[in-house]
Amino acid sequence: MKLLFIGDIVGQPGRNAVKTLLPKLRKQHALDFIIANGENSAGGSGITPKTAEEIFSAGVDVITSGDHLWDQKEVMELLAGEKRFLRPLNYPPEIPGRGSGVFEVRSPADLTIGILNVQGRTFMQPPLDNPFLLAAEEVKKLRELTKIIFVDFHAEATSEKIAFARFLDGQVSAVIGTHTHVQTADEQIFPGGTAYLTDAGFTGPHEGVLGREIEPVVKKFLTGMPQRFEVAKDRVILHGAVVEINDATGRATKIQRVMENTI
Ligand SMILES: [Fe+2]
Ligand SMILES: [Fe+2]
Repeated sequence: MKLLFIGDIVGQPGRNAVKTLLPKLRKQHALDFIIANGENSAGGSGITPKTAEEIFSAGVDVITSGDHLWDQKEVMELLAGEKRFLRPLNYPPEIPGRGSGVFEVRSPADLTIGILNVQGRTFMQPPLDNPFLLAAEEVKKLRELTKIIFVDFHAEATSEKIAFARFLDGQVSAVIGTHTHVQTADEQIFPGGTAYLTDAGFTGPHEGVLGREIEPVVKKFLTGMPQRFEVAKDRVILHGAVVEINDATGRATKIQRVMENTI
């Protein structure tokens, strides 16, 4: 099977890019499943039922998230009632929502995929439970149900991301990083069969600073004063990666970065 993972969707430009480009990408890569990180889909901060619905309607099967999870209060609705929405696994167990799920793959019909969303701890807030230990436990449970497992590791430090993926090599089909909004060029398949990319990048306006207007971000660095970071507008690009997975073994056979312009 072939899946597409889409890096952090930023604001309306990001949502529009997914809508516009997904039909073409689905055809071009013969995609069976599409996952997207949606933590910045509502005005660049957080996610709401409305922005999630837009992303699902565009053809995304499952939405993952990260540290911007709580930026919109409406997220509580998603956490409580939307099975296709995941939040990082390593929050305290009593909070609503879930960090993993098993989903049916569109084709072939008898396949299922386990998806896991985990957040890093190095240079990240808030300090969550150990992602390595919790992910290993969760993967063990998921492997009883399916061999095809995808992990979105939402983290800042490249060392933590690589170590985490190496730790899970052979246990999952792919680990792809999110959060930095900068696509890395280190796609590879580890010896155990786990596809890896440190960061998928972001889907949204690239004429800016990580999807936001340039001027207020520069001003904040110059003055130290808080600024309003509006979502930027121009050079909208979809970032992500396509992973090909052997249905029988769950091992990745190919990983290819995606960087698709809207114009
Ligand atoms: Fe993000
Ligand atoms: Fe993030």
